[in-house]
Formats: sequence, C-alpha cells, structure tokens
Amino acid sequence: MYLLVSVGLLLSFKCLALAACPDYSDYSQQYHAPFSSGAYNLSYQRPAPACRTFNSSSINDVVDRMQSVISDPDLYRLFQNSYPNTVDTAVKYKGVSNTTGEELTFLITGDINAMWLRDSANQMQSYLPLLNASSSPDSIASLYRGVINLQARYVLTDPYCNSFQPPVESGLAPADNGAASDDTVVPSYNRNSVFECKYELDSLAAFLEVSSNYYNATQDIAFFRKYNWVSAVQAVMGVAEAMMTPTYAANGSVNDSPYTFTRETTRASETLENDGLGNPVQGGTGLIRSAFRPSDDATIYQFLIPSNMMFSRYLDSAAIIMGQIGNQTELATNMTNLAASLRSAISTYGIVNSTKYGSIYAYEVDGYESQNLMDDANIPSLLAAPFFGYLAQDDAVYQNTRKKLLSADNPYFMRGPAFTAIGGAHDGPGYGWPMASIVRILTSSDEAEITGTLKEIVSSTDGLGLIHESINTFNDSDWTRQWFSWANGLFGQMILDLQDRMPQVLMQSYQPNSTIS
Ligand SMILES: *[C@@H]1O[C@H](CO)[C@@H](O)[C@H](O)[C@H]1NC(C)=O
Ligand SMILES: *[C@@H]1O[C@H](CO)[C@@H](O)[C@H](O)[C@H]1NC(C)=O
Ligand SMILES: *[C@@H]1O[C@H](CO)[C@@H](O)[C@H](O)[C@H]1NC(C)=O
Ligand SMILES: *[C@@H]1O[C@H](CO)[C@@H](O)[C@H](O)[C@H]1NC(C)=O
Ligand SMILES: *[C@@H]1O[C@H](CO)[C@@H](O)[C@H](O)[C@H]1NC(C)=O
Ligand SMILES: *[C@@H]1O[C@H](CO)[C@@H](O)[C@H](O)[C@H]1NC(C)=O
Ligand SMILES: *[C@@H]1O[C@H](CO)[C@@H](O)[C@H](O)[C@H]1NC(C)=O
Ligand SMILES: *[C@@H]1O[C@H](CO)[C@@H](O)[C@H](O)[C@H]1NC(C)=O
Ligand SMILES: *[C@@H]1O[C@H](CO)[C@@H](O)[C@H](O)[C@H]1NC(C)=O
Ligand SMILES: *[C@@H]1O[C@H](CO)[C@@H](O)[C@H](O)[C@H]1NC(C)=O
Ligand SMILES: *[C@@H]1O[C@H](CO)[C@@H](O)[C@H](O)[C@H]1NC(C)=O
Repeated sequence: MYLLVSVGLLLSFKCLALAACPDYSDYSQQYHAPFSSGAYNLSYQRPAPACRTFNSSSINDVVDRMQSVISDPDLYRLFQNSYPNTVDTAVKYKGVSNTTGEELTFLITGDINAMWLRDSANQMQSYLPLLNASSSPDSIASLYRGVINLQARYVLTDPYCNSFQPPVESGLAPADNGAASDDTVVPSYNRNSVFECKYELDSLAAFLEVSSNYYNATQDIAFFRKYNWVSAVQAVMGVAEAMMTPTYAANGSVNDSPYTFTRETTRASETLENDGLGNPVQGGTGLIRSAFRPSDDATIYQFLIPSNMMFSRYLDSAAIIMGQIGNQTELATNMTNLAASLRSAISTYGIVNSTKYGSIYAYEVDGYESQNLMDDANIPSLLAAPFFGYLAQDDAVYQNTRKKLLSADNPYFMRGPAFTAIGGAHDGPGYGWPMASIVRILTSSDEAEITGTLKEIVSSTDGLGLIHESINTFNDSDWTRQWFSWANGLFGQMILDLQDRMPQVLMQSYQPNSTIS
C-alpha cells in the first residue's frame, strides 16, 4: 500500500515537472533572455535543462568550448542554440525494447511529431564528430544504435514509406496526419506505424548512411550481426530492384508498378500523374526510380539524379559492413555491384551538354532524353554531391553544375536583399532555404563565398537565433518552420567543419558594419 502511494506520488511529480515544460513549437517562436550582445540581439533558445529530451555532456562540452573559438557574439549564439537542438528537443523516446532487447530511439523532425528516415539519419550525422564506441545508454553511440534499430524495423515493415509513428514500446500515441488520411497507396501500409507513405529513394539511402556513419566511427560489427540489420538491407535491395522496373514492357504492355500513390489535393507536387504511376520512365537505364524528392514533393521525371548518387555512395560503404558480417559476402558483392552500375548509369544518363555551362548533371531525367535542369534545397541535392561523398569538390562536371545552380539560370535560385539561396517547389518561388546556404559553405573552399554566405545566415533569423526552413528573400520576418531540427544540427556541423578546415573565418566579425560583403 505504502509502496503504491509512493510510486503514485513520484509519477504525478514527474508529470507536473513535464507539464511545466513549454511546447517547443511555441517556445521557438518566442524571444528569450539572455540576448546576444551583437547587433542582431539574438534570443537564447535552449530549453531549460529539466526540459531537454537527452543530456549529452560531450555535446554540452563542445557548445561551451566553441565560445572561445567563435569571436562574433551573434554567430556564437546561433551555434549555441542550433547545434544541440536535436538532443535538446527531438528525442521523443529512448529506451530498450521489452520484447527484442534492442535499444530504440524515436527522433522527431521537430514541429511535426513523426520520425523521417532522412531527417533522423541526418539529425544524428551532426553529432558524428563526437561519436565513439560506447555501450553506455547515455552515449551518442546508444542514440545512434536506437535510430538504426528503429529504422531497420520501419524499413522491414514498410520499405516504401518515408515517415513513421512511435514504436509500440514507447507507449506514445500515433500522431494524426490529416493530409494522408485519404491517400491511396500500393503497397498498402500500417497506419498505426506509418505517418506518411511517400516512396523516396533517399529515405533508403539515409538508412545506409546512418549505418555507415556508425560503423565507420565505432567498428562495432557485433551490433550489425545482432538484430535485423541484414534483413533490412535485403528489403532495401528488394525495393531498389523493383523500382528499376520501367513503365512499359518490351511488347508495349504497361508493367505493374511496384508502387503507386494518389492524394486528394490542390497541390500538383502532392500527388502523382497517371493515376499514381508518375510520368513514364524508359527501361534499361540502370537508374532507380523515386516517386518523391527529399522535399516530399513529387518528382517530375522519376530518375532523380542526386538520390541515385546518394544511394550509390552509401550502398558502397554499407557493403563494407555487410562484408564483415561473416556469411553475407554474396549480398555484399551485390551491393558493391549495384553501387558501381548506378555510378555508370548516372554518367551515361544524368550528364547533359549545356551550351552555356558545358557538361552538367541534370536534377531529374526519364531515360527518354527529357531532362529537368534545376536544383532543390533539400539534401540530397546536386549542390550537396561532394558533401555526401559522391564526388570530389573539384570534379569538373560538378563545378560546371554548381555555376548554373547558383545563378539565375536555376529556376529555383531565389534572390533578394534579405536572403539569397536555392529554394524549391515545397515552399514555392521567392523563398530561399538556409539549408542550401549551409551546403554552399560545406562545398566551397572560397573564403569570401563562405564568409559572405555565413554573414547572410546570421543576419536573417528574425532575431530568433534558429535556422528556419525557408526565408522570403525580400523580408526575413516571413519564414517557414520555427522548429526544423535537422537544419539546426546541420548548421552546427558546418561550423565544426569550418573549425577544422578554415578556422580563421570563425574569428571574424559578422556584424552589419563588418567588411565582409
Ligand atoms: C561595429 O558595431 C559593433 C557594435 O554593434 C561595434 O562594437 C564595432 O566597433 C563596430 N565596428 C566597426 C568597424 O565600426
Ligand atoms: C532584444 O530583443 C528583445 C526582444 O525583442 C527586446 O526586449 C530587447 O529590448 C532587445 N535588446 C536590444 C538591445 O535591442
Ligand atoms: C537532463 O538533466 C537535467 C538536469 O540538469 C534533468 O532535470 C533532466 O531530467 C535530464 N533529462 C533527461 C532526459 O534525462
Ligand atoms: C566517447 O564519448 C563519450 C560520450 O558519448 C565521452 O564521454 C567519452 O569521453 C568519449 N571517449 C573517448 C575515448 O573519446
Ligand atoms: C512491453 O511494453 C509495452 C508498453 O509499455 C506493453 O504494452 C507490453 O505489454 C509490454 N510487452 C511485454 C512482452 O512485456
Ligand atoms: C571514416 O572516418 C574517417 C575518420 O575517422 C574519415 O576520414 C573517412 O572519410 C570516413 N569514411 C567514410 C567512408 O565515411
Ligand atoms: C508483354 O510482356 C509482358 C512482360 O514480359 C508479359 O507479362 C505480357 O504477358 C506480354 N503481353 C502480351 C500480350 O504478350
Ligand atoms: C548467417 O548467420 C546467421 C546467424 O548465424 C543466420 O541466422 C543466417 O541464416 C546466416 N545466413 C546465411 C546466408 O548463411
Ligand atoms: C545477388 O544477386 C543475384 C543476381 O541478381 C541474385 O540471384 C542473388 O539472389 C543475390 N544474392 C543475395 C544474397 O541477395
Ligand atoms: C558537348 O557539346 C560540345 C560542343 O557542342 C561538343 O564538342 C561535345 O562533344 C559535346 N559533349 C557531349 C558529351 O555530348
Ligand atoms: C514581412 O513579413 C512579416 C511576417 O509575415 C509581415 O508581418 C510584414 O508585414 C512583412 N513586411 C513587409 C514590408 O511586407
């Protein structure tokens, strides 16, 4: 009796403590003291320690240490708020499954209460510089293992879907997704575990990415043998093979598509042409189709080049893990072979001869010689190809492509006095994406380009001190998404990268009166 009462009191005390924590969707739209001492007067945005969703002393140590590395008070404040954002706010559940014994991490994207394969892999990637082998449940390694295990579960049950609900072990209720409630999708999926089922090749690449990143830093092969990782990779390979199916058979009959999607919507980018098939793709190219882009917008031509690049790159590194499993050498060889054949298909079908820029990569092709020459801000983008390791920054075709993408010859290059960056159809013309500015810095060795881009990011957070999804290029008070965890982590990752390769840019002033233009 006494014990029961105590537990009851403890539980209600914990609920009270949590109830006192503000919803970060609201918190991140408000201004909080102390303000930074620079001209931009940036708000402090870390939740109170008791309200943080995961405590990592190594992340807090980096945040503290960088204060003496970054001279500008506004740039430092932006780093201080953004780098820990994922651990501070997005770890909705972390535990050990009471049925399988595996660690599980449910990592939400931010202001939408669901876990994307792409976002969660990249949210973890911002902490890759701090990752080492550790079995402690408080470690970054444990967070990683939890994400990989949960992603493997998602990929095994619904390999065509992009975002997911909490695992049953968490006891958390599934979030409502009104936009998806009338979607018609083949193959059908479980609505209790899936938030949305848009088939995006880069979601599968993201699972290989987070796996490769963890293995490369820890060499923890025992982990990959333990649970369902091998079967999940088999499921990934199955989708890749199925999604090479062309629209027509050689005799002209229409092939059964492994995936179709339609939605009742007024937005063209939220549904697929031809009653859910998408626009036709030619056979025999060796490229893999993607119904949607990493922005979750429909592709125009389904051979999405950046997603094929990213898939090839991480298939190659995940094959190294597979080769170490012990009895999976044939699967490892299949992975390496597919990575190589994709690379060759990208060179054959993904490179276009532009009269103005020379040989450049197309964003999307269909194998019928149709080419969509543009870029979209979300990673994987063409601009990000060296960042995700597909090619070297000085690759001649990449450099030609980059010139076009960062010019008025890219239909989604947004320009204005408040902000200039690549954007995309997701938020529409006139809105540049800070994520694309961050990628521009990560893929440049030009100090003036880096400092100029950084100055613009620091100046355009509307005083809130967080990285938004997109910004009106004529009015930085008009922006989207107050709480976009991945973009915040990516900003921090970029600052740590600059510390390694160009530390002098962190010692400069980014004030409005500074000489950087
Ligand atoms: C720029 O403004 C800051 C205060 O916002 C001031 O401390 C600094 O001296 C100024 N620098 C120049 C070069 O005027
Ligand atoms: C900084 O911003 C806060 C919130 O808008 C405001 O209350 C404060 O007066 C500002 N401080 C300065 C020095 O502009
Ligand atoms: C993080 O640490 C604070 C104390 O600094 C504590 O109140 C909070 O509960 C911890 N958060 C988690 C998720 O353990
Ligand atoms: C490994 O990372 C943990 C935090 O995740 C940290 O406490 C520890 O010092 C690190 N160990 C080494 C050898 O760097
Ligand atoms: C595991 O935990 C969940 C959530 O707390 C609970 O519903 C379920 O019954 C438990 N399963 C087992 C086998 O204990
Ligand atoms: C693996 O990590 C090392 C640093 O520890 C890095 O130099 C290398 O590029 C990484 N390899 C891959 C394939 O990510
Ligand atoms: C056309 O080819 C497809 C695929 O090989 C086959 O399934 C289908 O039966 C053929 N149709 C006719 C009419 O021959
Ligand atoms: C590889 O080994 C695992 C664990 O012993 C076993 O479950 C699996 O069936 C084996 N796979 C093959 C292809 O031999
Ligand atoms: C490897 O690829 C071949 C040819 O597609 C296939 O027959 C075989 O089943 C694959 N092996 C594994 C282990 O997936
Ligand atoms: C591209 O065009 C140039 C000039 O028209 C030509 O010399 C070159 O061979 C073409 N390259 C390809 C790959 O078609
Ligand atoms: C800029 O955007 C804000 C927020 O949407 C709006 O309130 C303001 O009126 C806009 N300013 C101009 C000059 O349009």
